[in-house]
Amino acid sequence: MMNRALSFFGLGYVGLTSAVCFASRGFKVIGYDADPQKIELINSGKPPFYEPQVEDLLGEALGSGLLSCTHSPAGAVEGSHITFITVGTPSNLDGSINLEQVKSASKQIGQALSGKGDYHLVVVRSTVTPGTTENVVKPIIEGYSGRRCGEGWGLCFNPEFLKEGSAVRDTFNPDRIVIGEFDRTSGDMLEELYRGFYGDEMPKTIRTSPINAELVKYANNAFLAMKISFINMMANLCQKLPEADVEVIAEGIGLDKRIGPLFLKAGAGWGGSCLRKDLEAILDYALKNHVELPLVEATLKVNNAQPYRLVELAKGLIGELDGKRISVLGLAFKPETDDMRDAVSIKIVKRLLEEGARVAVYDPKAMENARRIFGESVEYSGSIEDCLRGSECALIVTEWDEFRKLTSQDYIKLMKIPAVVDGRRIYDAESFSSKLRFAAVGLGEKRYYNPALAVNAIITKGDGILLVRRGIEPFKGLWSLPGGFIEYDETVEDSLIREVKEETGLDIKPIRVLGVYSQPTRSPTKHVVTICYQCSILSGEVKPSNENIEARFFAVENLPEQLAFDHLTIIRDHLKSKR
Ligand code: UGA
Repeated sequence: MMNRALSFFGLGYVGLTSAVCFASRGFKVIGYDADPQKIELINSGKPPFYEPQVEDLLGEALGSGLLSCTHSPAGAVEGSHITFITVGTPSNLDGSINLEQVKSASKQIGQALSGKGDYHLVVVRSTVTPGTTENVVKPIIEGYSGRRCGEGWGLCFNPEFLKEGSAVRDTFNPDRIVIGEFDRTSGDMLEELYRGFYGDEMPKTIRTSPINAELVKYANNAFLAMKISFINMMANLCQKLPEADVEVIAEGIGLDKRIGPLFLKAGAGWGGSCLRKDLEAILDYALKNHVELPLVEATLKVNNAQPYRLVELAKGLIGELDGKRISVLGLAFKPETDDMRDAVSIKIVKRLLEEGARVAVYDPKAMENARRIFGESVEYSGSIEDCLRGSECALIVTEWDEFRKLTSQDYIKLMKIPAVVDGRRIYDAESFSSKLRFAAVGLGEKRYYNPALAVNAIITKGDGILLVRRGIEPFKGLWSLPGGFIEYDETVEDSLIREVKEETGLDIKPIRVLGVYSQPTRSPTKHVVTICYQCSILSGEVKPSNENIEARFFAVENLPEQLAFDHLTIIRDHLKSKR
């Protein structure tokens, strides 16, 4: 069977990716886009967006002569047998779908079809609300071509399920193909095209009416978004429960075959150009049909609030953000794309700025897009290192691989005070929280059974030792610098001693503060503190600035367990035992 020639109206992610994939399997493809600059760019071998493999495939397709882009919509239709409509369907301000580009493409195709001799198939691939293919696309093409659908031309709605960042892979390996056909001839022609494209690996294909196919697309995106919002809702519950971890919950439910493991990654919320747009469009559409979609509403509600959870976690770690330098790692709405449309990073950065933070941002691909959104309001870092240097808290917003590779030591080395909010659950929580201030979406507070972990400061003088809980002024808000101990000057020391004296009623002599190291406390009422540096110091990884720290370890190791959460008792008993 000869390969059909194809044309694509709209050369965005879906159009261009599909075009180069078809060309890579020997199909002749003509691209058309209303934006002439896009056509020029593509013809010169540059995709107007970043998407893995697309640039390579585009180069090959242009090189082989199988792909060409034209400024003439009529030429695109005339030179092909099948035309895909892959234009954007953005939202209007009220959330309803904007079909202007679909209408305009339909008009151009209709005009071109009026003079075309052979049979032509039109395939709507843009996401459109139920009924659009039948009630908008069909009458426009009929009107401009002067031919009824079925007379020399056919029509299908054929949803795409490509994910940005893996659009090429998804094109070659779809879970299924859904064909919403106006008549059997149209459906047969489209199925035959896909059989030619996939060969022996033809995915399961559903043939149905256009309205069902249109609904499948919306139901699909709504369900995916609902899955993510569901796990984010659970994450928010976990965060309040000591020892809870949403990652375990996701694994636990994901192994149930009825639920499945995918799209259960809790995080900063879902973004991107599709999910919100589609959920709002289907809500608006349902409302106009007097139907409520409460699950879709709840899905949006959870997601609207989710990005701000990261800012709250940051405040839990380092207190008020005013004047502090905060690093945002990751701006794209997901890894492997430069797309920032509806990215959660936008909400997060804006909230950080509202809180008075100085924001430094870094993304491997999305910096150019970020400049258009944030203007002069943030610092654009050229590397992860630049972004983290001198910072007081880092937020992981997009889970790029290069962020995954960072170790706690990297943060410790670079940051002024290392504190990390893992908004995408890319780090080993146990290892990170033992080394620096750490909070993660969906991670409940850890209980520290080791009494050593309840100690904030150790003050020694000769044999004397004092263990100080966090929260006592002037230690409030002060943290040790990992990699070394802070030595406080006399004034700080004096006032600390005074306060401890007042609290314990014990006669304490001025003594020397050796070091402080605090565990991130997610609850303002608990003062969970760690001296995890004990291990690193003993293993020689970290050199304390003060050599005389033996007493500290000895005393801490011998603390009775039940006292772990009652710091004043710890202090009192230890002082008593030292008398
Ligand atoms: C989504 C759908 O997944 C595609 O099937 C669909 O074709 C496409 O919309 C569309 O309508 O065109 P896309 O928006 O490109 O694809 O990317 P997703 O992989 O779905 O990610 C969307 C957002 O959800 C991202 O911000 C991602 O970080 C977030 N996400 C995803 C999570 O927070 N958790 C997860 O478990 C999965």
